[in-house]
Amino acid sequence: MTERIVLAYSGGLDTSVAIGWIGEATGAEVIAVAVDVGQGGESLEDIRQRALGCGAVEAYVADARDEFANEYAMPTLKANALYQGHYPLVSAISRPVIVKHLVKAAREFGATTVAHGCTGKGNDQVRFEVGIQTLGPDLKCIAPVRDLALTRDKAIVYAESHNLPIETTKKNPYSIDQNVWGRAVETGYLEDIWNAPTKDIYDYTATPEFSPAPDEVIISFAQGVPVAIDGVKVTPLQAIQELNRRAGAQGVGRIDVVEDRLVGIKSREIYEAPGAMALMTAHKHLEDITIEREQARFKATVGQRWAELVYDGQWFSPLKRSLDAFIEDTQQHVNGDIRMTMHGGQAIVNGRRSDTSLYDFDLATYDTGDTFDQSQAKGFIELWGMSSKVASQRDQRVSGL
Ligand code: ARG
Repeated sequence: MTERIVLAYSGGLDTSVAIGWIGEATGAEVIAVAVDVGQGGESLEDIRQRALGCGAVEAYVADARDEFANEYAMPTLKANALYQGHYPLVSAISRPVIVKHLVKAAREFGATTVAHGCTGKGNDQVRFEVGIQTLGPDLKCIAPVRDLALTRDKAIVYAESHNLPIETTKKNPYSIDQNVWGRAVETGYLEDIWNAPTKDIYDYTATPEFSPAPDEVIISFAQGVPVAIDGVKVTPLQAIQELNRRAGAQGVGRIDVVEDRLVGIKSREIYEAPGAMALMTAHKHLEDITIEREQARFKATVGQRWAELVYDGQWFSPLKRSLDAFIEDTQQHVNGDIRMTMHGGQAIVNGRRSDTSLYDFDLATYDTGDTFDQSQAKGFIELWGMSSKVASQRDQRVSGL
């Protein structure tokens, strides 16, 4: 029986050419799998037809939008995960859900190998292959761009000489990856890290300098997950979509960073994640009133470690799973409403209310009704500073000798 290879298919030039390229190099039949993670653009049926037109023996489309929002974006939100303090893991969290569908398709169609269109320089090859190894230890991986010398120039020549139903003249100078959680743009003139991004780079966000009238929104959360916007019930996917629209119109969520790739390269990336950043801002402010101080401090370090693991392709690792359990436990009381004004590229919280709040007006107030016993502060401070005071006395004694 002819060997079968499942290819992660985007509909773009590289993966379209990869169908025939892999076939010629390996003699295998190629099954194209496109996964909808809310990237928008062309209809998935058009993409499916193109795969068949490019020689795939089967083409399969998976609608993973709700799955992606519920099981990948929401954990990122609960973790307040920002890699290097900036990046809400847009591409990093889409790879594991795509991997799930690739492995499932490999099983269904009896494939032995999974292929993807990544280069050998980035994080995504690692995320795909570590994920595939973990979920399908018997499956092999192949990356035609990296392993079968499929360069862009060769792809154009191949597509034209084989009359593939794909545009080869439209030259996009950028490498773009997008889904409902956000959009990542790199390469081209952005590689000079002194160059400011030009307007044409952005798609999810409008220019913040010319934003429309301020937009005030109330986001309601239950156990760390958005459940209503302005009182209207929403699913996580709808919450992200609605805030992509509203926060995007205000230019919220633009990020310009030089980040540390897993493979040791520092690289420039422009992100736009209006919905993700608006939700994360609101979520963090709700945590500020509903999570106890020590738990909150520890959670920040857990969230940072979580972001690193996910960035580094360890979505399916035991440590990531354990951190998920911790984070999930912290979300028990993260219920309530956050009011936020979005304008001029910023989302600023200006009100919060929660039935599970730890904010105690009577303890906090400087007005009448204060129940905080200030006389206890004096003794507390004495003991709190004790160990440093003792050490300092020792230091002075020793250096005085
Ligand atoms: N640097 C980001 C990451 O590793 C995004 C990469 C996405 N790819 C792209 N062509 N922009 O997660």
